[in-house]
Amino acid sequence: MIAIYPGSFDPITLGHLDIIKRGCRLFERVIVAVLRNPHKTPLFTVQERLDQIQQSTQHLPNIEVDSFEGLTVNYAQMRQAQVLLRGLRVLSDFEAELQMAHTNKTLSTQIETIFLATSNEYSFLSSSLVKEIARFGGSVDHLVPQHVALDIYRCYAQNHPTSTLTRTNPVPPLNQSPLDQEV
Ligand code: PNS
Repeated sequence: MIAIYPGSFDPITLGHLDIIKRGCRLFERVIVAVLRNPHKTPLFTVQERLDQIQQSTQHLPNIEVDSFEGLTVNYAQMRQAQVLLRGLRVLSDFEAELQMAHTNKTLSTQIETIFLATSNEYSFLSSSLVKEIARFGGSVDHLVPQHVALDIYRCYAQNHPTSTLTRTNPVPPLNQSPLDQEV
């Protein structure tokens, strides 16, 4: 079976990686799919996120990293995938995730959503939280892969004491609370 793991991944966290690694043990192939969403102002471009995910998962043999736009089920059908993989951290994720799974089921009865419980140590973690910590000069070394942490510090260079690089394009404002539903 082929599974799609869709998301924003702005940026990928150790929580995402936990789901990806475990998904790779369960499925023949896992396609990590970054949504190209014109309505959001991400910290990283789609290409930057693809590179970050690629670099974080290069040790996994049965993984592919891609981007898509439009409906996830349409993309899954196009890729001949049978499963949408999502992580569930805490109870507050459940409502939105269930709504999404039911909506997707109405769009395609052929595609199943399978949830993996995020490992306990990452159950608090979200991309938004990572951005908030870094934005205020905190360390995110324990929350994201090392190369992603460096990318983040570059973005928030003015606030981070160890960063010497500055980003040419402006950093977008944090428009989401850390408690938002990014997995
Ligand atoms: O990482 P995120 O932001 O929680 O991922 C959400 C995502 C990308 C999985 C979801 O927004 C999505 O599938 N968007 C594509 C549009 C779509 O298919 N909508 C119908 C299902 S709600």
